[in-house]
Amino acid sequence: MSTVTKAGLEDVVVSTSDICFIDGREGRLVYRGYDVDDLVAHSSFEEVAYLLWYGALPTRKELDAHVKALSASATRRLPPKVIALLRTLPRRSTPMEVLRTGVSALSAFDPDAADNSREATLRKAVRLTAQMPTLVAAWERLRRGKPPVAPNPRLGLAANFLYMMTGKKPTDLATQTFDTALILHADHEFNASTFAARVTAATLSDLHSAVTSAIGALKGPLHGGANEQVMLMVEQIKDPARAEAWIRKALADKARVMGFGHRVYRVEDPRAKHLRRLATELGEQAGNTAYVQILNTVAKVVTEDKHIYPNVDLYSGAAYAVMGISTDQFTPIFAISRVAGWAAHVLEQHGNNRLIRPRAEYTGATRASYVPVAQR
Ligand code: CMC
Repeated sequence: MSTVTKAGLEDVVVSTSDICFIDGREGRLVYRGYDVDDLVAHSSFEEVAYLLWYGALPTRKELDAHVKALSASATRRLPPKVIALLRTLPRRSTPMEVLRTGVSALSAFDPDAADNSREATLRKAVRLTAQMPTLVAAWERLRRGKPPVAPNPRLGLAANFLYMMTGKKPTDLATQTFDTALILHADHEFNASTFAARVTAATLSDLHSAVTSAIGALKGPLHGGANEQVMLMVEQIKDPARAEAWIRKALADKARVMGFGHRVYRVEDPRAKHLRRLATELGEQAGNTAYVQILNTVAKVVTEDKHIYPNVDLYSGAAYAVMGISTDQFTPIFAISRVAGWAAHVLEQHGNNRLIRPRAEYTGATRASYVPVAQR
């Protein structure tokens, strides 16, 4: 057996895929051939989910049917027993813990749970993509001692999520910003959570199990959890006037600065510029520009000093915070978008499956002699 190892599987190509292309040197992100910049300019999250699952942009008729399926109250609503389950969780449970538990529980109520056919997985993808925003918003309300807000079938996924979080219809700018954030987070090739989803699917396990695995992987601060950590940094810095001294000290202390660096991009993450623009516009509209000012100063210093560039997680939280969303909900928001990509990868994996089972280069002892416990 070859003993070549690559720490963190860096640059190891583990499979072919038609879903997502990243050019790490040019800073390009492409879903099914379409540049994410074009999708941000012209598309919606619902249409992007269709593109990822079916491999082509929908016709008007197909898009209308797809949006209708994703928006129906019957699809978005949670089974009452899942709401009852959420009520049993300690209020201090983090939204990511609750999302992981909730998605796993939804499987028990899904009529297609045990069916891994392409048609059934597509039906489950529609349901999970529609239910996850309801789950995240329901927990936000329950932990504040308020009843969940019923989904509004007349609102698109982005507007409906913000409505269920706050009970108020969002502004057009908030809806557009949120929809763009969902488009930008929808897929990203073989990132850690998607790989976790594919490893699970490759055992011929089902979509809910794959998404539950993926949520566990997304939760960590080196992956989706970074957006939350960025906001904690901003809150620590507080005042834009303190940002430069703060970040210079952090770099001198060899701190890992969240929201920077990437395994694939060698330039700025192409998603960051959109989120910077939207966070800036939203901040100006709300009269709160401090978050973006702090992040711009931090970005300037880190880029100049370390030649490490902003990633998707640097500016997203600044936009969500201005919308009044709690910091610990930022990673669940990542998940309610990325489920579109996870589902596309599960469909692709099931469509041409082989068990994913790599090897380890064993570095432990091989001929230890067993000593009975009484003699140790
Ligand atoms: N702050 C300070 N130094 C960094 C950072 C950072 N954010 N990222 C990389 N470096 C340095 C690192 O110290 C190392 O330097 P040296 O070679 O001198 O030891 C070098 O750059 C390579 O770092 P690495 O950790 O080996 O790189 P990696 O490809 O294993 O890690 C990463 C990629 C994203 C985990 C890392 O850049 C990081 O920890 N970033 C902060 C967390 C973050 O923002 N994660 C979100 C990633 S994008 C969205 C997502 O996936 O969810």
